Amino acid sequence: MSTMTQAKDQETVTLNKYSGSMGPDVLDVTSLYKDTGCFTFDPGFMSTASCSSSITFIDGEKGVLLYRGYPIEQLAEKSNYLEVCYLLLNGELPSKEEMKEFETHIKEHTMVNDQLNRFFAGFRRDAHPMAILVGVVGALSSFYHDSLDTANPKHREISAHRLIAKLPTLAAMAYKYNIGQPFMYPRNSYNYAENFLHMMFSTPAGDYEIKPAVAKAMDLIFTLHADHEQNASTSTVRLAGSSGANPFACIASGIACLWGPAHGGANEAVLKMLEEIGHVDNIPEYMEKVKDKDNATRLMGFGHRVYKNFDPRAKIMKKSCDEVLKALGVKDPLLDVAMELERIALEDPYFVERNLYPNVDFYSGIILKAIGIPTSMFTAIFALSRTVGWFSHWKEMVEDPKMKIGRPRQLYTGHPTRDYK
Ligand code: CMC
Repeated sequence: MSTMTQAKDQETVTLNKYSGSMGPDVLDVTSLYKDTGCFTFDPGFMSTASCSSSITFIDGEKGVLLYRGYPIEQLAEKSNYLEVCYLLLNGELPSKEEMKEFETHIKEHTMVNDQLNRFFAGFRRDAHPMAILVGVVGALSSFYHDSLDTANPKHREISAHRLIAKLPTLAAMAYKYNIGQPFMYPRNSYNYAENFLHMMFSTPAGDYEIKPAVAKAMDLIFTLHADHEQNASTSTVRLAGSSGANPFACIASGIACLWGPAHGGANEAVLKMLEEIGHVDNIPEYMEKVKDKDNATRLMGFGHRVYKNFDPRAKIMKKSCDEVLKALGVKDPLLDVAMELERIALEDPYFVERNLYPNVDFYSGIILKAIGIPTSMFTAIFALSRTVGWFSHWKEMVEDPKMKIGRPRQLYTGHPTRDYK
């Protein structure tokens, strides 16, 4: 490898530089292999823009997050999740009429085909909701053969509506299945967040009382998780879609990727960590483990690949967290552990030097717990919120006439050619 590097050091390569509307410039390396015989090497995509996109912008240094140019703080305060879905999918905020029509479309699709109910019986009762979602969302493609032509805009539109509408129904069904209660049908007089809470907590024997503060916090959690540019699961959806796979299959691949604890699984991992610590007195010992290089323990809900000063979603979520806990009058010893962890980590040189701040999942886990959502459902809620982001990226990609199948290359480190004996 070093010989190769020296040899190539002698070459001068001219690369085109492109500027986006905001953010760092990029160097175009598409012809590098043809011109030099070299690939670029960037495991983890530390310096690689995998595509161009006009959906979401992040400035990790300044803690900026924009959906279609609108700051997340403004959307969190003035908009709501379904309007944000429209914005992400279509690029502009809807007029009143457009919004009404969009809401009607979503409500038309909140139920799942009755036959899908029977899929659930194939899962163990204690199946993780994410395992169920990976399966049943992929299975949706088997119900809509008539509208899977990815080149047809009408097919793309109805698939978007189906996915956005059905994910809360499927997520709530996964929970009901876990606890052995009957599935609750969606109720279209409710808004998106209320309907999810209804399907989670009502039973045929009685309606769940939906507190406005809880529905508002739920909608905010959906909104703050709706998109986050080219993160691991979105990149997975794009890569899956680049082969021409149908959107239901692609979203199922995104759900699988999101499940990991370094990504969407972090909100569940935060709660498990708080339970493991158990009491504020145990924090110093836990912090020693986190800082020990020979120990793989990480402080879950802290750190982010892109945000190096603060996560703007975490700021909004923290405020909502305080409001929800107050409105519900929740007193939970684990919350004391969470607040103390936050305080220590913001002062401790280990975290300060590495720019490790609480991320969105630190606070969302606490809110979800206060609402009464079981820990195992946290990542499923992230998945249902992110479905619109995944779909918007998939749509942007397939609508690009220059779309190519994604096919990364590698630095091969295995055996050179050898003879079979
Ligand atoms: N606890 C302790 N140390 C950490 C943590 C953490 N949570 N995160 C990073 N570090 C340390 C890491 O050990 C390394 O130290 P050193 O330089 O001494 O080797 C340094 O900080 C840089 O870490 P990295 O792993 O190179 O950073 P990354 O950008 O690859 O990882 C991350 C980002 C989010 C995967 C990581 O911070 C992490 O594992 N956090 C905990 C999991 C988590 O909360 N994930 C949710 C992310 S937000 C929701 C989402 O987008 O899905």
